[in-house]
Amino acid sequence: MSSIAIVYHSGYGHTAVLAQSVALGAARVAGTEVHLVPVEEAEAKAAILDGADAIVFGSPTYMGSASARFHEFMEATSKTWYGRGWKDKLAAGFTVSASQSGDKLNTLIQLAVFAAQHGMVWVGNDLLPGNNNSKGSVEDLNRLGSFLGAMAQANADEGPDVAPPHSDRKTAERLGERVAEATARWVRGK
Ligand SMILES: Cc1cc2nc3c(=O)[nH]c(=O)nc-3n(C[C@H](O)[C@H](O)[C@H](O)COP(=O)(O)O)c2cc1C
Repeated sequence: MSSIAIVYHSGYGHTAVLAQSVALGAARVAGTEVHLVPVEEAEAKAAILDGADAIVFGSPTYMGSASARFHEFMEATSKTWYGRGWKDKLAAGFTVSASQSGDKLNTLIQLAVFAAQHGMVWVGNDLLPGNNNSKGSVEDLNRLGSFLGAMAQANADEGPDVAPPHSDRKTAERLGERVAEATARWVRGK
């Protein structure tokens, strides 16, 4: 049995939708227990994060960065960092913004550096980039072409009922599944 926690912030619901997609993908892997932890509950649910074999981080991109609320969470983990509490857990990340780029890569880099500071082992996205040739479409998985983690784009005038689109949700699902597969191997090898 392996345990995966997904800790995320979502101001307007788009990142929450992706968190659910990551959870759905992870739960497809037999023997995986999945915990969704909104960042507002991270302190109360610290035992879930500390007990997980993998933690997936999710934040919207605000001003080209992880959100202030997510940064607050990151800084609040400094005691855990000092005690090496998350060392050798697997980690991964996802983000969403309104623009096609929106500087989302910077957010994923922040999440990966955060994981590295904790001594965690980062799992990237294994999907080839989509929508990058004449036969491509926005329906392609990994349509935004990210390897570091799952990226999604949500139109600024659409709610989480429709945005981000199906392809981005499926991309996040695959990241969750990949993290769960990697975690199962990681836990077996311990
Ligand atoms: C304060 C703020 C800053 C934002 N900055 C960016 C940005 O830098 N790039 C971008 O493309 N979208 C930006 N957006 C749009 C959000 O990334 C987008 O609406 C996203 O889907 C929000 O996710 P959430 O619903 O989980 O909060 C910003 C939105 C807010 C509220």
